[in-house]
Amino acid sequence: MFQSIVHNAFVALLISDRVQASISSTREAQYVTLPTLREQLAITDAWRSERIANIPNILKKYGVDAWLMSQHEHAEDTIFWSLKHSTQFAARRRTLDLFIAPAPGSPSSLSYYSWIDNTPEVWDNVLEVLEKHDPKKIVINDDAEVAFAGGMHAGELVEIKKRLGKKWEGRFVSEAGVGVEFVGTMPEGNDRLKWYRALMETAWAMIGEAFSEKAITPGLTTTEDVEWWLRDKVQAMNYTTWFQPDVSIIGKDDFGNPDPDPSPAPNTIQYGDLLHVDFGVTAMGMNTDTQHLAYVLYPGETEKDVPQGLRDGLKKANRLQDIVKGNMKIGQSGNGILKTCLGQMKSEGFKGRVYSHPIGDWGHSAGTLIGMFNLQDSVPILGDLPLLNHTYYSVELYAEHFVPERNATLNFYLEEDVYWVDGDEWDWVWGRQENFHLIHSKGPKVANEQATEKASVQDKLANEESFLVQEL
Ligand SMILES: *[C@@H]1O[C@H](CO)[C@@H](O)[C@H](O)[C@H]1NC(C)=O
Ligand SMILES: *[C@@H]1O[C@H](CO)[C@@H](O)[C@H](O)[C@H]1NC(C)=O
Ligand SMILES: *[C@@H]1O[C@H](CO)[C@@H](O)[C@H](O)[C@H]1NC(C)=O
Repeated sequence: MFQSIVHNAFVALLISDRVQASISSTREAQYVTLPTLREQLAITDAWRSERIANIPNILKKYGVDAWLMSQHEHAEDTIFWSLKHSTQFAARRRTLDLFIAPAPGSPSSLSYYSWIDNTPEVWDNVLEVLEKHDPKKIVINDDAEVAFAGGMHAGELVEIKKRLGKKWEGRFVSEAGVGVEFVGTMPEGNDRLKWYRALMETAWAMIGEAFSEKAITPGLTTTEDVEWWLRDKVQAMNYTTWFQPDVSIIGKDDFGNPDPDPSPAPNTIQYGDLLHVDFGVTAMGMNTDTQHLAYVLYPGETEKDVPQGLRDGLKKANRLQDIVKGNMKIGQSGNGILKTCLGQMKSEGFKGRVYSHPIGDWGHSAGTLIGMFNLQDSVPILGDLPLLNHTYYSVELYAEHFVPERNATLNFYLEEDVYWVDGDEWDWVWGRQENFHLIHSKGPKVANEQATEKASVQDKLANEESFLVQEL
């Protein structure tokens, strides 16, 4: 069922620079198989080294001298997951990480100390290192609001204060920017973006196949069936995901409802439905997030039969994407960007919502938020952070459009990931949706045959069950 496997070609091409031109959204998305885990290790650990090498720049930018993390196995600091080596699966014993920036004008580089110890001696070692470098401001991850700067567990904070004493406690500072920038900044070496694009292309290929007659038979397939089809496809491709895929029928399901029915009845997909998917994949320490729309053609219909009102709604959502992408100015707060975007949308005479977020190490990663679904005026704290360069973002939004053919206003939900290019310029990681995915009808005959087949399988299962009951 796979469209095609391009792993060998992809890896071979990665070695040469000629590939760059061959990877673009002008062609249909293909499945990309992942390298072996051992091959992945070499790639992801090079990204890790690049990020650690950037720590002195981050400490300097925030005017601090050191960054101290302390954690236990299964009580890891949020930063642990972005800092760990590929063969680490948890912190061990008590794991301490201490980064000390080189003194101004000093030719030496970053000092990175890491201890894994479960004896009190570890504290003597830490104290010795602190005395040697004498950092004046030591960042501690105890922020109350920002996950990426608040990962130190409460008991651990009590313990380090007690063990290091008043002198060092007096030098502890909170600086959310350090954790946020460490997790949010994407390395640029070792083909990071090419691999991210490969993940994104694969996510598109999965959506393309899920939203086709290969996975959907109108009148038979439910939205839940498509969600599990995606989960199984992710597993078959040796990827994972960071959230349950959400497939819905626009205008029928309650996608976007902040208080949805926890166990909605499965919805059977019918001819003429407008379908929506919210889907992401995870691999090599990176995550993607995509929302696309599909239209279910009636038997005998072709692409030109998609109602004009739906096409116009998609165009409006594309316009809102342009507005958001065009207003993502480095250094501005997410709240400021939100205000500009919604103002521009209003002045162009349409309605919608913007709720875009950083992505990378986490699906909802470190950095400022440009709106949240339920917060369209401003987002407290996270919306006040500045937009950082060298990051990936997920441009997530919807535009409202009155569809005359339905006599209804529908929400056109779209989401695509972008990466920072240069200056204030961002570009789509793989591309963006401008045409509906189409579910072509197999015709009523095939659908009927499949329905009959499904019914007979269900009858058979029911008979087997009653047989088992009799046996027992
Ligand atoms: C997934 O992993 C298994 C086990 O290593 C391997 O045999 C299979 O070829 C992989 N499939 C893909 C699509 O990469
Ligand atoms: C963007 O990143 C570069 C490092 O590549 C840094 O020197 C520069 O100050 C950053 N710009 C802003 C506005 O943060
Ligand atoms: C369209 O919807 C409006 C409001 O829901 C309703 O009053 C009107 O009768 C509908 N028009 C048609 C042609 O169904």
